[in-house]
Amino acid sequence: MSYQKKLVSNRVDGMSESIWVEFVQLALDHKPVNLGQGFPDFEAPECVRKGLADAAIGPNNVVLNQYTRGFGHPRLVNALANVYGKLTNRVIDPKKEVLVTIGAYQALYSTFMALLNEGDEVIIIEPFFDCYEPMVRMAGGTPVFIPLRLNKTDNGNVSSSDWILDMTELESKFSSRTKMIVVNTPHNPIGKIFSRSELEAIGALCKKYDSIALMDEVYEWIFYKGSEHFRMNSLEDMWDRTVTVGSAGKTFSVTGWKLGWVYGPERLLRPIQLLHQNCIYTCNTPAQEAIAIGFETEVPKIGQSDCYWQELVDLLQPKRDRMTELLKSVDMAPTIPDGGYFMVADFSKLADKIDLSGETGSKDYRFVKWLTKNRKLQGIPMSAFYSKEHKSLGENLIRFCFIKTDETLTKAADIIRDLKKSLEN
Ligand SMILES: Cc1ncc(COP(=O)(O)O)c(C=O)c1O
Repeated sequence: MSYQKKLVSNRVDGMSESIWVEFVQLALDHKPVNLGQGFPDFEAPECVRKGLADAAIGPNNVVLNQYTRGFGHPRLVNALANVYGKLTNRVIDPKKEVLVTIGAYQALYSTFMALLNEGDEVIIIEPFFDCYEPMVRMAGGTPVFIPLRLNKTDNGNVSSSDWILDMTELESKFSSRTKMIVVNTPHNPIGKIFSRSELEAIGALCKKYDSIALMDEVYEWIFYKGSEHFRMNSLEDMWDRTVTVGSAGKTFSVTGWKLGWVYGPERLLRPIQLLHQNCIYTCNTPAQEAIAIGFETEVPKIGQSDCYWQELVDLLQPKRDRMTELLKSVDMAPTIPDGGYFMVADFSKLADKIDLSGETGSKDYRFVKWLTKNRKLQGIPMSAFYSKEHKSLGENLIRFCFIKTDETLTKAADIIRDLKKSLEN
């Protein structure tokens, strides 16, 4: 092949700015009540905040302000091996089966980069956390999409469990090229928690087609009454072909710290560690120390009402219910999530009465931009979470984040009710 020098790598050819670049800027410009990006607007637990302060200025600060072990700070990988060992009922090697990363984001990136080759196919369930697709492509893989389908036959409330993954359709997406399937549970944005039997069916296909399950479980601690989070890596014969990603930002409500991890069998973790070593080398030491302290503080309390994760769910459950009632009262049909802290709603009945011609993009982008600029409330347009071919499936939907103070949610409620009233006049 003849050589042709290009200014820019093929890896970024055709790539555009992500939804977050545009909508974070929109929020900075218009200062809306922000139910857009997924982060809390209240204090993180004291154990991690104090842990960070102590690491930076406490008695061990000379060591803790410097580089730590590349694959993860010893105290944190030990804490992670301990908690996931308990949750998966196996002994996890903190050195060989755990890697600490810059957020779950980098854990995903490093996993795709370390495991995919040109020609490998990766099944992505739609809607999906938007970075999966460009990351897979950058790693040389080919995404193969399958949408969750809303299966609701009566007029009752829509639950996230009404969004179904059709297993026959899923098998039609598998082939000898399928290297991996990405499963996000609890799911962003739908809030669906994949049931044990759904995971078993997906796992059976992974075994049949010799594929890896990449589990994005960043919301693993947030599931509501009557729901339970199941782990693919705990199912029979699945540990060896499962890589699981977690996030300190979501676990301890410190999204700005950008710390995450990936754990799984050595044969899959080793290449991810090597990739990480030649890219990031080592993550922020004080934050790792603080997150280790967070786990050491909270893990012994699992199952008790004063455990942080129980407190978080107890705090979020009424917010979820309040948000549901609000959206129903203004004809924005919500999907009630079983887990996570997002709520998806169909805004089509409202938006039909609004002139969105001043905005660009698909209907959901236009509605969300209009709402941010004119009513000072921000959500996220759902078509951002679909592939090009399926974007229409998200065009009537908006995602709201409800891990916000009651004060913020009241402001949002006032805006939505006012909007509804003004459209009736
Ligand atoms: C499903 C999902 N995966 C990964 C991430 C990234 O997490 P982090 O902030 O730890 O990089 C997010 C963040 O919103 C998410 O929702």
